[in-house]
Amino acid sequence: QIKTTVSVTVVGASGDLAKKKIFPALFALYYENFLPEHFTIFGYARSKMSDEELRNMISKTLTCRIDKRENCGDKMEKFLQRCFYQSGQYYSEENFKELDKKLKEREAGKVPNRLFYLSIPPNIFVDVVRCATYGASSPTGWTRVIVEKPFGRDSESSRELTASLKQYLTEDQIFRIDHYLGKELVENLSVLRFSNLVFEPLWSRQYIRNVQLIFSEDFGTEGRGGYFDSYGIIRDIMQNHLLQILALFAMETPVSLDAEDIRNEKVKVLKSMRPLEIEDVVVGQYKGHSKGGKSYPSYTDDPKVPNNSLTPTFAAAALFIDNARWDGVPFLMKAGKALHSNGAEIRVQFRHVPGNLYRRNFGTYLDKNTNELVIRVQPNEAIYLKINNKVPGLGMRLDRSNLNLLYSAKYSREIPDAYERLLLDAIEGERRLFIRSDELDAAWALFTPVLKELEEKHVFPELYPFGSRGPVGAHYLAAKYNVRWGDLSNDDS
Ligand code: BG6
Repeated sequence: QIKTTVSVTVVGASGDLAKKKIFPALFALYYENFLPEHFTIFGYARSKMSDEELRNMISKTLTCRIDKRENCGDKMEKFLQRCFYQSGQYYSEENFKELDKKLKEREAGKVPNRLFYLSIPPNIFVDVVRCATYGASSPTGWTRVIVEKPFGRDSESSRELTASLKQYLTEDQIFRIDHYLGKELVENLSVLRFSNLVFEPLWSRQYIRNVQLIFSEDFGTEGRGGYFDSYGIIRDIMQNHLLQILALFAMETPVSLDAEDIRNEKVKVLKSMRPLEIEDVVVGQYKGHSKGGKSYPSYTDDPKVPNNSLTPTFAAAALFIDNARWDGVPFLMKAGKALHSNGAEIRVQFRHVPGNLYRRNFGTYLDKNTNELVIRVQPNEAIYLKINNKVPGLGMRLDRSNLNLLYSAKYSREIPDAYERLLLDAIEGERRLFIRSDELDAAWALFTPVLKELEEKHVFPELYPFGSRGPVGAHYLAAKYNVRWGDLSNDDS
């Protein structure tokens, strides 16, 4: 029987993403015995480095799971022995041919499958894909390429990028990553919905008042100002991470769990959405201030950001899906950097109980406290349902309690990093968690008009202090649709 081998070439091997996420994820897969028996890892970048220097560099960021420290050092050593380095230019077919030669030495006698991970800036995507295809694609096995966002800045540039990539690759070879799709609780969304009787029947305009998708970070752009300034938070978080969650949340039941069936349903939801209008968007930018003797920078203090930048570091938006299931239900998104908290969550606020028996005595309380399902994607993963409950005792008092599934209490194992799942899927050819080009088109179609309008009209972002809750405009936007943003700090019970 002919044996196969898989090689993973990380292009842009000395970059931040490669060091922090990709190599550690590959090691975690190796540690857990998920990598194929015959595999090789190559780093490719411009700087001159020996294999040993690459190993040294990546060894600093490899870790073993807390729950599985056995043989950690041993495994690390074995893993590093299978890592190699090739230096080369990103536009040089010749240099990729040299890589090809080295790959062949490792692949001897086996069917070679090759995965290229492009951990590089978007302006060199196409060059690298061209050189990798002509210089180093697998002669007899498969060749796949993982690309990271940004996939363009708007509909037009995204389509151009897709067309350029497709000069060298087929759609099946392109794996567009949205790492939020690799997060445990995002994967679990479908399980929760489709394999519990108690949720799916409620999953519509009839019972759901609004859905909130919230992302917040308590730090600023920190050294990424150069990239961030030409994209902004809407392109960085909303158009991809939050919209992907929304599509999974709102899609109809797919025919099966096959990648194409799931992606077909996601595309349908995206295509049923109304393009976002400027009246339904609030933008903000963080400003510096001092508190308790400590000073916090403003966005424009970043040396790579122009002083007069209007790029939003915060945005809130109200989106609508014009189909039978979701007609009229606001899907509110909020994303921001340099806010008071760190986390990502989905909140589902349910309607009032019709004809509630307890309305007469507890009307004001019940008005404020309808059921709410919270899926906390991170940190401290959890799913909880807020219910009204009788306070134990002889009298009748109601209070709000949580039916709570806290992952750290229920499961003793560590949750894998999103990149582990995605890399494994790419190696196995599972496309479910990757973005198809028509999905990408539909996602850009929703945001492109408003992004253009914000830029053409030079809309000033509302300034908010670093570490605050963000611009008050977000509250007015929610209030316009009769919604109050949920808040983690009010959720303990
Ligand atoms: C990236 C964004 O896609 O996601 C970053 O470009 C952001 O700006 C990051 O910080 C957040 O990812 P995570 O997994 O840390 O929540």
